[in-house]
Order: sequence, then C-alpha cells, then structure tokens
Amino acid sequence: MCGIVGCVLNKKAAPTIIDSIKKLEYRGYDSIGIATVTDTINLKKGSGKINEVDSEINLKDIDGNIGIAHVRWATHGNPTKENAHPHCDCKNNISVVHNGIIENYKELRQELIKEGHIFKSDTDTEVIPHLIEKYMMEGQDFLTSVQTTIKRLVGSYALAIISKDNPHEIIGVRNESPLIVGVGENGNYLASDVPAILNETNKVIYLEDKEIIILKQDNVQIMDFDLNPIKKEITTITWNSEMAEKGGFEHFMLKEIYEEPQVIKDTLSESKKIQEIVQKFKKFNRICFVACGTSYHASLIGEYLIESQIGIPTEVILASEFEYFNKTLDDHTLVIFITQSGETADTIKALKVAKEKSETLAIVNVVGSSITREADHVIYTRAGPEISVAATKTYLSQLICIYLLVAHMGENQELLHKLDEISDLSEELLTHEEQIKEIAKKYKFAKDFFYIGRGFNYPTALEGALKLKEITYIHGEGYPAGELKHGPLALIDDNIPVVGILPPGPSYNKTYNNLQEIRARGADIIILGASNDTQIDDVEDKILFNPIIDEIIAPLLYIIDLQLLSYYISIEKNIDPDKPKNLAKSVTVE
Ligand code: G6P
Repeated sequence: MCGIVGCVLNKKAAPTIIDSIKKLEYRGYDSIGIATVTDTINLKKGSGKINEVDSEINLKDIDGNIGIAHVRWATHGNPTKENAHPHCDCKNNISVVHNGIIENYKELRQELIKEGHIFKSDTDTEVIPHLIEKYMMEGQDFLTSVQTTIKRLVGSYALAIISKDNPHEIIGVRNESPLIVGVGENGNYLASDVPAILNETNKVIYLEDKEIIILKQDNVQIMDFDLNPIKKEITTITWNSEMAEKGGFEHFMLKEIYEEPQVIKDTLSESKKIQEIVQKFKKFNRICFVACGTSYHASLIGEYLIESQIGIPTEVILASEFEYFNKTLDDHTLVIFITQSGETADTIKALKVAKEKSETLAIVNVVGSSITREADHVIYTRAGPEISVAATKTYLSQLICIYLLVAHMGENQELLHKLDEISDLSEELLTHEEQIKEIAKKYKFAKDFFYIGRGFNYPTALEGALKLKEITYIHGEGYPAGELKHGPLALIDDNIPVVGILPPGPSYNKTYNNLQEIRARGADIIILGASNDTQIDDVEDKILFNPIIDEIIAPLLYIIDLQLLSYYISIEKNIDPDKPKNLAKSVTVE
C-alpha cells in the first residue's frame, strides 16, 4: 500500500505536493511526511492523518522547488513518527519515499549496520537511502548509485528519491508497485495514482515494471534498469479532479453510492465491446475467476450466473490462495481477474502465473493500471474514480460487466433487456435513505449481524456483511440461507439482527421459511423484498421494499440497501466511512 508523490516545479513545491498527496490518502493514512531540497534536505513528518499532522506542524511551510511525500499504510514497523517516510541516509543527504516491501531488508540492514550506518526507524525502506549513500561514498554518481542499489533489492518498490547534491532532479523507480509520471506546464510529477496529479495536469505517462525515471522541471527521461532510454507515450486523461471530489456529499462513500445509477448506465454502454470480446471465448470449457475482497464477491455472482445460464464449469479463487489451485489450468480455461484498482498485489501475482498456461481477461476500473497491461483481454468497468475505501459503485460496475459477459456468451436477449431497466430502477433504492437511517439508529449497538441469501443472492449477503465489518467495526457474517441450521443457528438470539435477502423467484419459499426459523429464535429480522410481496407485509420486522425484479437480477439492486445501511450505521457510530481503520483501498502488498 502507501502513496507517493514527487514534483519538480518552477515554484515552491510543498503546497502542490501536500494537495497531491491528500488525493492518495485512500492508500494509507497511518502517517504523512514530506522532504524537499534546497541547499539541504528539509523534512517534516508525523503519525496520523494528513490534516491532523498538518495542523500540528504546517506541512506546506517548507521551502524548495523539488520534493517528495508519502502516506503510509504500515507493513514493517509501527505507525510512529520515526517510521513515517521519507527516510534518509546517515547524513540526511538522500531522502526516499517507498511503496512496496523490501523482502531482503533484514540482511541488508545487518550488512549496513556492520559497515557503520545508523538506522533511525524499524522500516524495510530505510535500507534504500543507506545503500545509495554507501555507493555514492564509493564514488558512484546519484543515478548509478540508485541503479546499484535496486540491483540489491528483492521485493516490490515504487520509489521517489532526492539528493542534496543533485538539487534539480528526482529519481523514480518502478518495480511491482504502481507509479505514473505527470507532465505539466509548471513542472513534472511522479505519483502512485492519477488522481494525485489531476489538479496540475491531465498528461500522464504510464510506467512499466523495471523502469527508472529522471524527473526534471522541463524534461522526463525514462530508462530500463540497464539505463537504456525508453520512449513512452503520453496519455491524456479524460476525467478531471472534480470527478474525484465530494461534490456536496458529506462523504465520498455516499457520493459514490449516489453515482450508482449513472455508473450502471455508463458500464452498460460497454455492451458492444464485450460482445466483440466474447467472440474469442468460444473454445473455453472452463472458467476461473480470481479476485480479492469485494471483487471476489462480484466474481461469486459470476460463478452462479455462468453455471446456471451457460453451463460452463466455473470456480472462484481468492487471489491470495491462487498458488494452491493453478496446477490444472490449461489452454481451454479462461481465467478472469476482477479488480477495481488493477494494482492488488495478490491479483497481479496470480495473473502472472495464470498467463503461462491460460488466456486471461481482466475486468478493471483504473485505466492503465498494472493488470490492464498484463492481461490478454481487458474490459473497463467505467465507474470513474472511487475514493472511499469501501467499494460501492465499482462493485456494481463489475457486476454489470459480468452480467453483460454472461448475456453475450449465452446470447441471452432476455437478460440483456432486463439489464436495460436496472439504472432507472436503482434510483428507487436511493429513496430508502430515511428508513435506513432509522434502522441504523436502532441497531448501531449490535455486536453481530447475520446476512442471509440463497443462490445469486448469497454473494450479496457476503458483500453486505463485508461492508458492515469494514466501516462500522461490527462483526457481520454472510451465510447461505439454507446453511444456517447447520451451526450458526446456535448463535441466534434477540441481540442479533438478521438481514434476509428475499427477492421473488424460485428460491423465495425456502429463504422465507429459513427466516421464519430465525424469527422463532427471537432475532430481529430486516427483510429486503419486493414491493408486491404481501407475505412479508403483515409482520413487524423492518422491511425495505424494492422494485419487482427476479432473483437473478436482484444482486444488482439489493446491495444498494446494504451499502446504505452500513454507511448510516458508521455515521451513527461517528466513524469516518471513507477511511476505516487498518484498511486501504489499494492493497499493493501480498
Ligand atoms: C482492498 C479494498 C477492497 C477491495 C480489495 C480488492 O481490500 O479495501 O475494497 O475490494 O482491496 O481490491 P481490487 O482493487 O483488486 O478490487
């Protein structure tokens, strides 16, 4: 995880750097730090969120036209000021920000300590400035020292490095952690992700692994690890920084939920491209989805859909578990990678392995992200930038892509027609806000929640429970409705609310009966059902009435109720839903 920024400008850099790094706070917010070069390295850092640290030490009040900054999601070393980046060498001549993990840092650290280097932090990163210092003291110039240093590193790293003796440039390095270049009028930029630089420029160069960048105010040189120059294209980004702002909503999460009807429309417009791509998929007799977190839940719905609608054997594997399941891949298997960021380390690793034996398709939100450059085929989800850590609109956009994929693979016109109505119907879900606020007030003190659903709607139960855990810190568990009686029913009592996902369709009666079994044990039940359901109308439970759609389509709508429920419980509990503790939006470590 972590976010890094670097700028070489024709003006004081700190204000721009701090505004840019704020856009990356979704990548980590354990600590913040900035370093600039004048005739010395100037450094400010602290633990906590950017605004907290800024109000204590005024991060923008630091001279220099060149600087680097970092927001941290701690991996090695506690989230303290000492462990905050940037990290320096012994004499504070070199300063480094790093996203990734240096796997062999312990050996390197021992070696450097033996040679007399003094370490000030517990991080893996700190070996980097000390190695550069060592090679510069041996007579190598700045660039060659960086080159020699990275040859000694095992692991993943995106780096931005400044040196007191080279006060007109930043050296950047990309290896298995994201890094892009921004080309602007007032200077040039390095960043982990595009939103960081959009206020300054919309001209971006996407970097590949094993590339080194020399960033100067009026030019950018890119080369491979042997320092051979590489020519790169400049891409113009079509979305602006305003699209990544809150637009009047109290939190990004609520804004992003409200964007869902539009996101559904935008993603449906990919239908033709998806139809063209699936023409190439006729030879496959097995499909395997690979993903993490919310993207894993979208994949599970894909499994239900493909098995039931097309009849191709399908499985879903968590990216972090993929290495135990890849032996049976072959050229008749299509491996589909679902990822919002396109930067999740586990998913990237799995893709590299899968590519050796099978054809790969990536369904990704972030254009130009690492996974889009590795996969054989790419479908974009068109959700726009998602800032809140908890995925909402991107989940829906992934589902739309999966439904389109299935509809085109199965030449299922009926399913395609049903999809056309979804955007308008989703607007209706947003009218549940007041009712959901009441439910949130009532249950904010609950310690546990169960979510149950059957078939296509079981993954919705899992995703509802994940949203609850992520942003309310309440334990939530998603369960297949029929499976509750095989264990979890023992936990049910009047302190545990149970959310039942009950759309009309072949599963209705069974799920309804399961809810009766739960009610008989005293639990409060919150039902998500269809507006014409008279069976549930006469009970005292909380009911959220949804448009009348069949259970196969329900995952595209009912999740909105569950996203809003978690959002309002988090508000009731005074938790910032955009920045849940210990989590990060883009998980770039394995
Ligand atoms: C993190 C995020 C989740 C996300 C998961 C997978 O855990 O907090 O919201 O679902 O990563 O991310 P991806 O970008 O691969 O979809």
